[in-house]
Amino acid sequence: MKIIEIEGGKELSGTIRVSGAKNATVAIIPAAILADEEVTICNIPEITDTDALCDILHDLNVETTRASGSLVINPKNMVNTEIAEEHSKKLRASYYFMGALLGKYHKVSMFFPGGCSIGARPIDLHLKGFEALGAVVTKDKSKYTVEAKELKGANIYLDIASVGATINIMLAAVLAKGKTIIDNAAKEPEIVNVATFLNNMGAKITGAGTSRITIEGVESLHKCFHEIIPDRIEAGTYIIMGALCGKNLKIDNLIPEHLEALLSKLEEIGIDLEVGQDYVIVSKGTNLKPTNIKTAVYPGFPTDLQQPLTVLLTQCNGKSKLTETIWENRFMHINYLNMMGSDITVKNQTATIIGPTELKGHQVVATDLRAGAAMVAAGLAASGKTTVTNVEHILRGYEQIIEKLTSVGAKLKLKEIKDED
Ligand code: EPZ
Repeated sequence: MKIIEIEGGKELSGTIRVSGAKNATVAIIPAAILADEEVTICNIPEITDTDALCDILHDLNVETTRASGSLVINPKNMVNTEIAEEHSKKLRASYYFMGALLGKYHKVSMFFPGGCSIGARPIDLHLKGFEALGAVVTKDKSKYTVEAKELKGANIYLDIASVGATINIMLAAVLAKGKTIIDNAAKEPEIVNVATFLNNMGAKITGAGTSRITIEGVESLHKCFHEIIPDRIEAGTYIIMGALCGKNLKIDNLIPEHLEALLSKLEEIGIDLEVGQDYVIVSKGTNLKPTNIKTAVYPGFPTDLQQPLTVLLTQCNGKSKLTETIWENRFMHINYLNMMGSDITVKNQTATIIGPTELKGHQVVATDLRAGAAMVAAGLAASGKTTVTNVEHILRGYEQIIEKLTSVGAKLKLKEIKDED
């Protein structure tokens, strides 16, 4: 098991550069197999989710060439074979191979995807979308088979504006016959980035970033060059760390519009921010006001920043309330924060945070990716030593987190220990 040891209480100052967006990358890599030619993707984050998707590409006999920050994917010799269960179980996003393989070969057989345990995470909307396009879905104990004689464009209304279902239906529909319309589509920036990538390969998609996406099916997709957008969640995580321990900490290479919900909340509680064209400068706040927040689909407050933000709310004067509306099991970090000295209670889907409370170093667990980021944020802000275990979760989504934080003055190190230690 990997652990992170943090000596807290250090001031963070200097510049952290944001990497490519994990949640765009994990969709764009599977999307690449829709092309008949080689595609080049740059600004790929070096995270273990990228490694896991490259393992799946190798299962499918797709050639990959990785250089620092770029990935060339050549699907010319690809075979539509079953993806090893150990690979699809490693991450949720393996399910994007369903839409992509269905779109290209009209048949896919796949084991259930894995990913963070933050809720039930059904994929009924993905499957309903495939069925609307003409596919038949069969499910046995641990596997889905989705098959279609022909995929035909359809009008699809999503009951929930799901990120995954929106992308998966786009992947299945780009090579279908005729027009597909997705209504109540999710509007996250990662969806726009995936649609741009598909269009760069020759797809005809309009409306990505709005709640109606229209896809005119095309015959084939060709080679292209594409750049992944900056990771708004990674950026937001470091901005929150700056609000806890920064002194003019600059978070560089971000798109401020993607972070509006976070930035306006931070200003509301009293954090001083300098927002530039592609950067934010942030310092530790004092005398912070409490607030109420509800997570929501984009452009609302992102669920993926709810856990790191809880740490900052422990430093506000008074009672804050944080309501999670997307995932039913995303409060596992609270127990560990309370062990560090916070005063938080959870009832139903709302956490009530009484602050300010002093945080003290403790042994804590990264129960999932963003809970792990919250634990690191708490460890940086706490006095004394914090040990975060199960940090494999964190390494799935934060490129070079140790190096980035060390470069701005944090004291932390990554260690490998035997599980029984
Ligand atoms: C994506 O998950 C992200 N993951 C998540 O980020 C993020 O939390 C989430 O979107 C919401 O922003 C990736 O992009 C790989 P959804 P996804 O489908 O696509 C329900 C992180 O930390 N739903 O938008 O799985 C679902 O249960 C991760 O980086 C159905 O009921 O999320 C949830 O309540 C964690 N049926 C809601 O919709 C379905 O078929 C939104 O889920 C699909 C979803």
